[in-house]
Amino acid sequence: MTDQPRIALNDGNSMPQLGYGVFLVPPPETKRLVADAIDVGYQAVDTATFYRNEAEVGAAVRESGKTIFVTTKLFNEDQGYDRALQAFDASYKALGLETIDLYLIHWPKPALDLYAESWKALVRLRDEGRVKTIGVSNFTMVQLERIIHDTGVVPAVNQIELHPYFQQVELRAYHDESNIVTTSWSPLGRGGVLDDPVIAGIARKHGKTPAQVIIRWHIDNGLTVIPKSSSRARQAENLDVFDFSLDADDIHAIAGLDRADGRIGPDPDFL
Ligand SMILES: NC(=O)c1ccc[n+]([C@@H]2O[C@H](COP(=O)([O-])OP(=O)(O)OC[C@H]3O[C@@H](n4cnc5c(N)ncnc54)[C@H](OP(=O)(O)O)[C@@H]3O)[C@@H](O)[C@H]2O)c1
Repeated sequence: MTDQPRIALNDGNSMPQLGYGVFLVPPPETKRLVADAIDVGYQAVDTATFYRNEAEVGAAVRESGKTIFVTTKLFNEDQGYDRALQAFDASYKALGLETIDLYLIHWPKPALDLYAESWKALVRLRDEGRVKTIGVSNFTMVQLERIIHDTGVVPAVNQIELHPYFQQVELRAYHDESNIVTTSWSPLGRGGVLDDPVIAGIARKHGKTPAQVIIRWHIDNGLTVIPKSSSRARQAENLDVFDFSLDADDIHAIAGLDRADGRIGPDPDFL
């Protein structure tokens, strides 16, 4: 396999462009699947307190003996300044790793109106060197602007739903202007984009699978991407995307798949 690309972050760190996501990976299977993912070559794992598998992720990473970029997230019920600090400690303990590479606020939950206070806690964690990089997830432009205005600290990452049916063109442009890296969650549309005939045609042309074409699309767009799979063979398939790239026709055709109603997850303004 060719070298895997890394993306520079606004705090001087960098992260692997492709990682393994473990939402809905059941805790009893997580350790084995993360070990498989590391074994087939993944250099990053994306978990969250909400997924209830941080301990298993940490065990697999520790036992691998490899340097793996680990992301975890503050869940909604832990928002607020003091609670966020406590929740971080619990995640740190559960993971059992020397460092957490990236800590994100999982959802803004505007109805709680605690995300600005939570962000201040993450800034403190970073300033104290307890986490390398801080960011957010599912934040809108308005919410990003508020926390940047309050603290002067620009999140390094905003992890958002993003796939060919929901391309988030406007928010990505704002991220680019603001030096925020975009991570695509549900990058395969939770499997829903895999049967698309346009994707199938591009896959045939390149001798790759639909999943590989979609993952390559995220990579070619400068996004970081965290597909989930519960099979070692599909984990390896999803990582085998560095021997081809999409041409202008492919990029044009995939741009045409964006849909106004393409969102599959919750709308962050109303969750
Ligand atoms: N920040 C957030 O709010 C948020 C929300 C959702 C997700 N996420 C993160 O994003 C990660 C990925 O999102 P996701 O799990 O929702 O969806 P996804 O990665 O878009 O899709 C996963 C689905 O695609 C299937 N799949 C994967 N590779 C395949 C392949 N090569 N061929 C055929 N089918 C394949 C998987 O089945 P098998 O498992 O059977 O292979 C699974 O059903 C999560 O694990 C999590 O880390 C974050």
